[in-house]
Amino acid sequence: MDARFSTLKAREQAAVCRTYGRYPLEIASAKDCRLYDFEGKAYVDLLAGVAVVNCGHAREDLAQAAYDQMLRLVHTSNLCYTQEQVRLAEVLTRLSGLGKAFFCNSGAEANEAAVKLARRYMRTVKSRDAYEIITLEGSFHGRTLGMIAATGQGKVKEHFQPLPEGFVTVPWEDLTAMEAAISERTAGIMVEVVQGEGGVRPATREYLHGVQALCRKHDILFLIDEIQTGLGRTGRLFGFQHHDLQPDLVTMAKGLANGLPMGALLATDEAASGFAPGSHATTFGGGPVVSVVALKVLEILEKERLVERSAKLGERFKARFLEIRDRLPDKIAQVRGLGLMLGIELTAPAGPVWTKLLEAGFLCNVTQDKVLRLLPPLTITEADLEAFAKALEEALTDV
Ligand SMILES: Cc1ncc(COP(=O)(O)O)c(C=O)c1O
Repeated sequence: MDARFSTLKAREQAAVCRTYGRYPLEIASAKDCRLYDFEGKAYVDLLAGVAVVNCGHAREDLAQAAYDQMLRLVHTSNLCYTQEQVRLAEVLTRLSGLGKAFFCNSGAEANEAAVKLARRYMRTVKSRDAYEIITLEGSFHGRTLGMIAATGQGKVKEHFQPLPEGFVTVPWEDLTAMEAAISERTAGIMVEVVQGEGGVRPATREYLHGVQALCRKHDILFLIDEIQTGLGRTGRLFGFQHHDLQPDLVTMAKGLANGLPMGALLATDEAASGFAPGSHATTFGGGPVVSVVALKVLEILEKERLVERSAKLGERFKARFLEIRDRLPDKIAQVRGLGLMLGIELTAPAGPVWTKLLEAGFLCNVTQDKVLRLLPPLTITEADLEAFAKALEEALTDV
């Protein structure tokens, strides 16, 4: 480890709260699908800031949109109307088929808004004292107190108790257990179409339709967390569109403003009738700068056909990684995912392979200890993915 990096690491440890297990990597700049360290060494970015920089790094069109807007209007608070926020809500509701949007600043906040809306809808519209949300084992919904209570992974809750009440977690893909958990207290069920932090686990179409049917049968809300799967990541603009689902509430964040903090809740008109002026708010949510950037992101996704690209490259490289598994069945247990949200589950902890890949100039991520997770910008080239596939096979052969 060189002196500059050791010094930065020591300064970070002295000045920044120790919440992150960081990679041994200082990133100084980025362009398109490459990250550069301070010596100019390039890394192919297969992580996109955890499914955020979907349109690629340091884009002039996005920078220009933000710059122009910053010279016009940066912030008004949500006490005033702005064209930019309303335009974004119109585009997102048209593209999703939902009725109304609420804007915030992160994924966890979008989920908080969804849960608040579900509870308030039940009480004010349905006149039912229903507040509980059912979630799945292995899910991840964010790090606020409410969302660690919602998340189906024990490790995020440790030492933070007492947690807010009103969340029940049921086993993965078990509709019997799901129905048994529904009671007069239940306000809704929240699922991810592909569990991201949970190890890149796609739920089956049958299961998701089963959950939707339970929501209709018991007259409760169907919530889909699209924070990681949204905005083209899985090869459709929203993951739920793969399965023709009709959720009542959908949350998104990550890729929405390509790296500027922004989250959104989309709701059917019916569900959205649970909110009233004063019932929920945030100072920064849906500000003009992030709104114009998000509008530009949606325009780029369409113009550059990045959603289709995600579907096509995702299928091609899933098949490519499966070929490697056929050659190295003792090293790769499974390859799964949708679009450019791919997980390569190894038979052993993935740390040593991850390190070799980093040395070879590829940055990906490990989740659930054994899963190499790929979430590249949707602009990634086939050549970069092919180079990664070769490096992966070499790294797996070496370890
Ligand atoms: C599915 C899902 N939900 C919620 C979150 C939380 O989003 P944020 O970190 O923006 O609060 C994440 C973040 O990884 C996520 O993947």
